[in-house]
Amino acid sequence: MGKPKVVLGVSGGIAAYKACELLRRLTESGHDVRVVPTAASLNFVGEATWAALSGNPASTEVWETVHEVPHVRIGQGADLVVVAPATADMLAKAAHGLADDLLTNTLLTARCPVVFAPAMHTEMWEHPATQENVATLRRRGALVIEPAVGRLTGKDTGKGRLPDPEEIFEVCRQVLRRGVAAPDLAGRHVVISAGGTREPLDPVRFLGNRSSGKQGYALARTAVARGARVTLIAANTALADPAGVDVVRVGTAVQLREAVLKAAPDADVVVMAAAVADFRPAEYAGGKIKKKDGEDPAPVALVRNPDVLAEISADRAREGQVVVGFAAETDDVLDNGRAKLRRKGCDLLVVNEVGEARTFGSEENEAIILSSDGSEIPVPYGPKEALAEAIWDQVTQRYTSRRA
Ligand code: CTP
Repeated sequence: MGKPKVVLGVSGGIAAYKACELLRRLTESGHDVRVVPTAASLNFVGEATWAALSGNPASTEVWETVHEVPHVRIGQGADLVVVAPATADMLAKAAHGLADDLLTNTLLTARCPVVFAPAMHTEMWEHPATQENVATLRRRGALVIEPAVGRLTGKDTGKGRLPDPEEIFEVCRQVLRRGVAAPDLAGRHVVISAGGTREPLDPVRFLGNRSSGKQGYALARTAVARGARVTLIAANTALADPAGVDVVRVGTAVQLREAVLKAAPDADVVVMAAAVADFRPAEYAGGKIKKKDGEDPAPVALVRNPDVLAEISADRAREGQVVVGFAAETDDVLDNGRAKLRRKGCDLLVVNEVGEARTFGSEENEAIILSSDGSEIPVPYGPKEALAEAIWDQVTQRYTSRRA
């Protein structure tokens, strides 16, 4: 099998320079990349850069090498087309099917998955014209990644920033791996909690756990690649924000509960992947707790935290909402899992065995997905994103079986 063929479309925005890094990531990971820049984008990054970095010609017009019929062949032969940055003008052209240069022609001939990574000023992104164009493209099966929030050109900040090239690359990798043109979570809003809560004892100490957040982030990344709108409620994680994800940062179980309850009414799916502390110190010492010579330390009294998973499972914020929980067990994994699924009242429970060297912080995971309908799907040891995909498969199956 040859290298997967990727077309990198670059339209005329200042973020075009970031596409160089995306191109590098794609070529270094074994993809054959053909860059198709728009004429306007060459004001930001020149043709020579694209040709040198990709090892392929980079033309903007349909009138070059006409005998090769590039306006048809490039799109037809692609396994993935990614447009980064996609300007408001490019989204409009794509939504309306214009074909006045090589990139827009390519978009019309491609039958593979198409990813747009928009970048523009907030006003342009929020304009109803742009929003309608984005909705049109999504309806037709394209994956349009939500822009990031942050510094824009000049002094402005807001929504409209191109996500980090590394994270756009992640989306491309996921989409290529699935190889399916239609994103099956399109139009769905998924809320995912990730990481581990910290319950403060005093200004410098806390009760915490060993969760890294990697499984929750893998769920967020794969959900974006399957077309979902994603809200990620991240408790004390040190991971980069995935592209296209709205990240809400929290610290304690109580803050996590608040964030989940705020996002849940609008969610089609809620996945509680966070390790939520069951207890918190009954009292918070405003100043650092000091040791006293000759005295034993005072015992720490704990109180129960709310059980967020049980609460959202009992009070479904929306009809048909799918609630997914996780169970980390050290012994009697399956029996404990089955009992927990009933106790918590969720639709799916992902049970995995944990221990010092297993799961926490690792890139890999192994689990069984227990369903309230009685099915038990084992997912073999493998990357956390493979488990994430298996979870989304179960979630989407619930939607399809309900419709049937
Ligand atoms: N969870 C939650 N709120 C809590 C504790 C846990 O929402 N206060 C969620 C976790 O996000 C996870 C699931 O419940 O999805 C299971 O967590 P786990 O710690 O394994 O279960 P516990 O309820 O703590 O059960 P036990 O103490 O019996 O293991």
